[in-house]
Amino acid sequence: MCGIFAISGERETAGNIVLKGLKKLEYRGYDSWGIAIRDAGKISIEKQIGKISGVKKDFGKSTESMGHTRWATHGGVTNENAHPHKFGKITLVHNGIFENFLEVKKEIGAEKFKSETDTEVIAALLDELLETGLEPDEAIREAAKKIVGRFAILVMVEGIPGLFAARRGSPLILGRGKTETFIASDIPAFLEYTNTVNYLDDNEMVYISGGTAIFSNLKTGDPITKRDITVNWKIEEAEKGEFEHFMIKEIFDQKDTIARAINHDDELLKKAVKLLQESNGAYFIACGTAHKVTSAAEYFFAEISGRKINVVPAGEMPSFEKFVNEETALIAISQSGETADVLEILERGKKVGAKILAITNVETSSVARIADVHLPIQAGVEKAVASTKAATAQMALCFLLAYADAENIRPGSINRGREILRSTASSINDLLNPRYAEYVEAIAEKIVDRRNMFIIGRGALYPMALESAIKIQEVSYIHAQGFAAGELKHGPIALIEKRVPCLVLGDDSETISNAMELKARGARIIGIAPTRADVFDEWLRVPDCNGAQAIASIIPVQLLAYHLAILKGLDPDMPRNLAKSVTVK
Ligand code: M6R
Repeated sequence: MCGIFAISGERETAGNIVLKGLKKLEYRGYDSWGIAIRDAGKISIEKQIGKISGVKKDFGKSTESMGHTRWATHGGVTNENAHPHKFGKITLVHNGIFENFLEVKKEIGAEKFKSETDTEVIAALLDELLETGLEPDEAIREAAKKIVGRFAILVMVEGIPGLFAARRGSPLILGRGKTETFIASDIPAFLEYTNTVNYLDDNEMVYISGGTAIFSNLKTGDPITKRDITVNWKIEEAEKGEFEHFMIKEIFDQKDTIARAINHDDELLKKAVKLLQESNGAYFIACGTAHKVTSAAEYFFAEISGRKINVVPAGEMPSFEKFVNEETALIAISQSGETADVLEILERGKKVGAKILAITNVETSSVARIADVHLPIQAGVEKAVASTKAATAQMALCFLLAYADAENIRPGSINRGREILRSTASSINDLLNPRYAEYVEAIAEKIVDRRNMFIIGRGALYPMALESAIKIQEVSYIHAQGFAAGELKHGPIALIEKRVPCLVLGDDSETISNAMELKARGARIIGIAPTRADVFDEWLRVPDCNGAQAIASIIPVQLLAYHLAILKGLDPDMPRNLAKSVTVK
């Protein structure tokens, strides 16, 4: 949610480097963008509404620059509300939410502000603190005491070279060069220059100037020493390559990612299930697509190891936190590992002694770092807003974990789980070919003019019906709704009209009966199943996956959603109103 990126160094084209890097962070927010440069001591700002991807501009000479791509929270999408914000001597970009900003704005004088943002209030607060004679780092520490909420900020101060950054809750990573330092919300922004990084943790700040970075505690000012970490990210992984969009590239990446997700040694899996087995009450915590994955995982555990795990969307967990204590296991699933709703539950859970198992795609993310046991899904960078390869990799890993959980009762279970998943991965590899994609595209052409779509499934395919709806809604803007197949006749069937497309996940006899009920009311039935049933008007074949059906069944829907978006002339990578990593509550 919002991408921020800065460089301080000896290159003379800092502004252009920031422009290029911000384009790689655009998946984090794309309402507007802005860049500040410092040249010969003078700070100037350029900001505009709209996407940064098409921007061609030469920022000329500058050795320091910082920029921002925005996902609007406070105030509409306007030039005034775009970052950076300047107030007095302070120029600032911000990712996060300053919850009590109105109070502080009033104290400073609401008439002094040009924008509606909470960010400008941080700039004003810092400027006011500087006026009292504080040094910039002291002013940032004082301001942090006043700010309620999560933030990552980058600050330039007039007359003082270098940049200040501070973090509480929103990610910031430093890229270390010999004579230059980068700082960004995510690594791809600077990966072409360096793969040596330092992670800024919560309640830490840093001052960067050229190749120097001075870290300190945001509460006490005490110096902090950081370890250099080498990341093994590949630049190509974060690029589209031969594909037109990241979404389709990432759908095709599933040829490899499912097999990679289960590439963990048994010891780590056993450690993860031990945490579960020693608990008294376990909760899956996640949001959006990851939440739908946890709902599928609930079925996997119930069916494979006989364990009941509670599934709660992270944003709803506050009502159940009274049940969380030192005996509880919290299992967090998050692609980014930075989702604010998830993190907050984990932070509070940790305080009462709950044990945390995290499944993320970003090994160094906040969720991964707070966990007692972390299982990376190893799917490689996922950039499209719509989660595809991360979701199937998360499901594969949960499926394997359920088998690992059953090892005590049925020795050899882990191997059995691996076998099923290997065969699933290889069938998916066969499925994902251009001919299959063209066939899905042809179905998309037939239904693209429809305003509503419904999806049904049973068992672990029920959460996949819900996930299918998310995929279709978010990239094609067609109203789509998923239901448990058996629930239709209890109400939703009233919505069925002639020619409304209904995706039917599965070919078991009960689901097929439900499909017939839909067809009898005029629906066009698109079956997604290993076998073709007579009731299907169209059939998207998926392999028979021996209990892991949910993993394969979502793939044709991902393709369908992608082609619907393309046929409607939409950008599937950057759907309206959305952003990739949701670091605000
Ligand atoms: O990074 P996370 O997995 O924690 O993100 C959670 C959701 O915001 C995310 O799954 C979202 O629903 C997807 N981008 C939708 O495709």
